[in-house]
Amino acid sequence: MNAPSSAIYRHLDVQKIAGAGGAEIRGVDLSKDLPQDVLAEIRAALLDNLVIVFRDQDLTPDQQLAFARKWGDIHLHPFMQGMPDHPEILAIIKRPTDKKNFGGSWHTDQMFSPNPAMGTMLYAKQVPSAGGDTMFTNQYLAYESLSDGMKALANKLRTVCVGDNFKQADGRSRKDRYADTMADMKVKDPGNVQTTSIHPLVRTHPETGRKALYIGGHVQYFEGMTDEESQPLIDFFMKHSVRPEFTVRVRWQNGTLTFWDNRCTQHFAVNDYPAETRIMHRITICGDQPF
Ligand code: OGA
Ligand code: MN
Repeated sequence: MNAPSSAIYRHLDVQKIAGAGGAEIRGVDLSKDLPQDVLAEIRAALLDNLVIVFRDQDLTPDQQLAFARKWGDIHLHPFMQGMPDHPEILAIIKRPTDKKNFGGSWHTDQMFSPNPAMGTMLYAKQVPSAGGDTMFTNQYLAYESLSDGMKALANKLRTVCVGDNFKQADGRSRKDRYADTMADMKVKDPGNVQTTSIHPLVRTHPETGRKALYIGGHVQYFEGMTDEESQPLIDFFMKHSVRPEFTVRVRWQNGTLTFWDNRCTQHFAVNDYPAETRIMHRITICGDQPF
């Protein structure tokens, strides 16, 4: 059964997916130039549910971009090449020959940037017959469920986040790893774009005012601590964040568009469709500096 709705909507039909978050929104055609009152309800639904899912959308890249621009400027991925005719859109492609998938570990998008993406819109072009779901966590719940002692410690910590050469990948570059395991994901040189950043481990959501645990796979260590000191704590926060009751899982269909709030969630693309192709069009929206 769906969890009860906590907001009243005049224009949208909002059906909650899990206790921790996620909602399917019916009654909107994202290819249209939506009026302000509908956009305001979509924003309320995003803030309330963290992950919102629109089914059966028929969008050209320009229409997806027009919808994305309602939320802010487009954040360009410093390492990933966009589509040739739409550089703001990243095609996320996994072929039957690829061993790995893009986003196949818990993370929040572009956490390595000084102003990480506020949200991501992923539009399903071609999905496998089964599998290829995306999982999400509610990082408000992850924070709120900590003990007072751990909250006090967490509030003092700052994370050092990097965009490449992750220690979790033995320091190998994206370029080398992706060439071996996901051939269609083309890596570019970030040039002078900043790709290492320090953020508070506990951030305050700029719109809801709620505190969320801001952690993900880009975190390498805590500022002012050694790797050895940091890693057990990182392991704890990562494991704690993905407790089943903090998660929601989205099953895709061709034409599904999912919009998630990167400021209070992590996500994980499940790689469980070895013989099939999955193609998504992804746009990220600029965010502000975490505080
Ligand atoms: C992303 C990502 C998840 C997916 O686009 O940032 O992690 O399910 N993708 O493809
Ligand atoms: Mn991602």
